[in-house]
Amino acid sequence: MDRFVFFGGKGGVGKTTVSSAYAHKCAGAGLDTLLVSTDPAHSTADVFDQSFDDDPTPVDGYDSLEVMEIDPEEAVDEHLMGIKRQLGDQVSPAIVNEIDRQIELAHQTPGAHEAALFDRFIDVMRESDHDRVVFDTSPTGGTLRLLSLPEYLGGWIDRLLSKREASVDLYEKSAIGGREPRRTAVGDPIIARLRERKENFEFAGRTLREEATFYLVANPDELSIRETRRSVASLAERDLPVAGLVVNRLTPEPESHEEGRGARFLRDRVATERERVRELEETFDPPVVATIETRVAEVKGDLLDEVARELDIAVDLPA
Ligand SMILES: Nc1ncnc2c1ncn2[C@@H]1O[C@H](COP(=O)(O)OP(=O)(O)OP(=O)(O)O)[C@@H](O)[C@H]1O
Ligand SMILES: [Mg+2]
Repeated sequence: MDRFVFFGGKGGVGKTTVSSAYAHKCAGAGLDTLLVSTDPAHSTADVFDQSFDDDPTPVDGYDSLEVMEIDPEEAVDEHLMGIKRQLGDQVSPAIVNEIDRQIELAHQTPGAHEAALFDRFIDVMRESDHDRVVFDTSPTGGTLRLLSLPEYLGGWIDRLLSKREASVDLYEKSAIGGREPRRTAVGDPIIARLRERKENFEFAGRTLREEATFYLVANPDELSIRETRRSVASLAERDLPVAGLVVNRLTPEPESHEEGRGARFLRDRVATERERVRELEETFDPPVVATIETRVAEVKGDLLDEVARELDIAVDLPA
């Protein structure tokens, strides 16, 4: 099993629950484990009855388990402030106001959250020294688009770089007329910044391909299965195969002697869901690695233990 493990899936299917259970399982096996949550609703706080922030914090009552919550809103702020600082150093004061306005707008762009979160993911992948890092990914389809950012941005930055190099070159030639340039592309701060971004995304692409494993969480209903199909395909497009599917929220079957409307409803429901699980098993390449029943209450405490045991997902480290 790779060092970085991601659990994707549609909103509300149980990503936080499953990634918390898996992180707990890894920690229980003695691995120094970090669970990274991106949920603005702080659901990891609910799972562990403890509040977390941006710094990895040990979870009370669990050995070798730490949690960090990345607030997407804050991540966007930091991300945009960083850009603002960098640009502010490079441009004339007259343009700074315009930059402020553009940054305000960028805040509202769809994808700003995902872009900022992805930046934070890259930081975590670079900086963490844990044996295992479990990512409870954001519920939007944007997460998947982000996984392709390394390629898109790489190409985009390459084109920008060559334009910028050409313009620095021209600027110098026109300013000094054929003598040795004073300003070269080599020491140019904007080019340095672009190179840094590019290198960052190359690192991310490489790390995701070579050191990360992806699981998808689904519910046994058509909508969720359709979404899973799309996710498997778009991950595969980026050379990121899905290692397995976790089916969460299966209806428990009533005992055979139980009769009445409730029992009949549950039996029908169970039959429909079995059909959906069969569909997942037969029409998907990645295997179903766990089927988790709906519990009567939120999954935390002892229930988290139970769910962790139901996950047929290895915890061993890469050799
Ligand atoms: N098997 C289960 N039995 C009972 N409750 C469950 C189960 N799985 C998840 N839940 C509950 O359903 C709610 C949503 O689950 P969870 O937070 O894990 O989903 P999510 O995919 O992370 O959602 P989001 O997309 O909003 O981040 C939570 O309250 C959780 O406790
Ligand atoms: Mg969640």
